Amino acid sequence: MANLASEFVGIKSPNPFWLASAPPTDKEYNVRRAFEAGWGGVVWKTLGQEGPPIVNVNGPRYGAVWGADRRLLGLNNIELITDRPLEVNLREIKAVKRDYPDRAVVVSLMVPCEEEAWKAILPVVEETGADGIELNFGCPHGMAERGMGSAVGQVPEYIEMVTRWCKQNTRMPVIVKLTPNVTNIVYPAEAAKRGGADAVSLINTINSITSVDLDAMSPEPMIDGKGTHGGYCGPAVKPIALNMVAEIARNPKTAGLPISGIGGVTTWRDAAEFMALGAGNVQVCTAAMTYGFRIVQEMIAGLSAWMDEKGYTSVDEVVGRAVPNVTDWQFLNLNYITKAEIDQEACIKCGRCFAACEDTSHQAIVMKEGRVFEVDDSECVACNLCVNVCPVEGCITMRRLDAGEVDLRTGEKVPAEPGDWTTHPNNPQTACAAE
Ligand SMILES: Cc1cc2nc3c(=O)[nH]c(=O)nc-3n(C[C@H](O)[C@H](O)[C@H](O)COP(=O)(O)O)c2cc1C
Ligand code: SF4
Ligand code: SF4
Repeated sequence: MANLASEFVGIKSPNPFWLASAPPTDKEYNVRRAFEAGWGGVVWKTLGQEGPPIVNVNGPRYGAVWGADRRLLGLNNIELITDRPLEVNLREIKAVKRDYPDRAVVVSLMVPCEEEAWKAILPVVEETGADGIELNFGCPHGMAERGMGSAVGQVPEYIEMVTRWCKQNTRMPVIVKLTPNVTNIVYPAEAAKRGGADAVSLINTINSITSVDLDAMSPEPMIDGKGTHGGYCGPAVKPIALNMVAEIARNPKTAGLPISGIGGVTTWRDAAEFMALGAGNVQVCTAAMTYGFRIVQEMIAGLSAWMDEKGYTSVDEVVGRAVPNVTDWQFLNLNYITKAEIDQEACIKCGRCFAACEDTSHQAIVMKEGRVFEVDDSECVACNLCVNVCPVEGCITMRRLDAGEVDLRTGEKVPAEPGDWTTHPNNPQTACAAE
């Protein structure tokens, strides 16, 4: 059986599945139950500085987006960092780490952007025996307005400065958690690296308004007739998170910087995708909040079975495997030519592919008598819209044309050699270079 044991910035855990800093990790009761269910590690719900505890709203704090089957696709929240006293959290962290020495216990922190505030909290966290800290430069609501969270994560100089303070004042590994609410994720990641971060983790939540109550004319969740933007997470954000992880993994200035992948991880496959794009482990929040702690058992079993099937013996063999295949558009092979093909036996004659192609693509699907749908290769541009709208999985596939075969749309033979935009005759820059 594949070995799922993971070592991330020197922190060992029996598997690469950690719970992200959020309600699932807000207290000892939860974390103990999470570890009993099989989670490899946790990032404790973000602690703030000593003083009067944080105050949360007393009305609804979540908004949601559902699929047609009411499955939760996206979750939005306006919750702040932990609202429990610092000393209670510290006592509980110590007790949990003592009882689960083989699990990763990382503590998320958010204090004001002043060196003294960081110097004050680091030793008390270190004293708990925690394995590391995660700097919360990501929460986009409530705390950001107070100059913390994403307000720090959006300014690379601040990221670098605070990371350096932490590295200078603790022996614990420092993971910097990034906000996706930026134009280019590589700049904050580079800043974290310059500051000496051992790793980055991403993504935190995305600024969002999930819905509007059209009677009250207020964003939801609504608190006494008013709403505010929240942080979006869950399966809907996975594509954004995957791209950001890949951008950091392939950026020469941050290549090799360990990444903890977060954002919509719900199944073992999601985790494997994050790891293939460079994440050393993954963190999970919404899936645990939706399905409970035992979902990790499916993740462990699935990842292990897949790794066995593929012949991977350790998690490290998966990490970063897909990174060399992430490229820029200009390097894609324009001589890779495919055509849609419909499996008539599987087709249920719904006509969705026809409507999509006829109205919004290239009029390449013909409806014949008896609602038989066929692809006209002389019109098909291989966009694969029909594949994506067809309700029967695998019913429409894309067939690659062989080298030398004639593409009926262009009348030209498929070249044997690859060719991309950088050398294409229609590229004005290629023409200039030739002159
Ligand atoms: C209710 C809620 C509270 C959260 N609180 C924190 C927090 O205190 N600190 C933090 O770093 N991230 C916090 N997050 C963000 C998660 O740790 C995670 O980055 C995000 O939800 C994306 O992962 P997911 O798609 O698996 O939920 C919170 C998320 C939710 C839903
Ligand atoms: S791949 Fe695109 S162009 Fe070809 S049949 Fe499907 S929708 Fe039409
Ligand atoms: S969308 Fe799929 S099932 Fe529906 S008609 Fe087209 S090929 Fe058949």
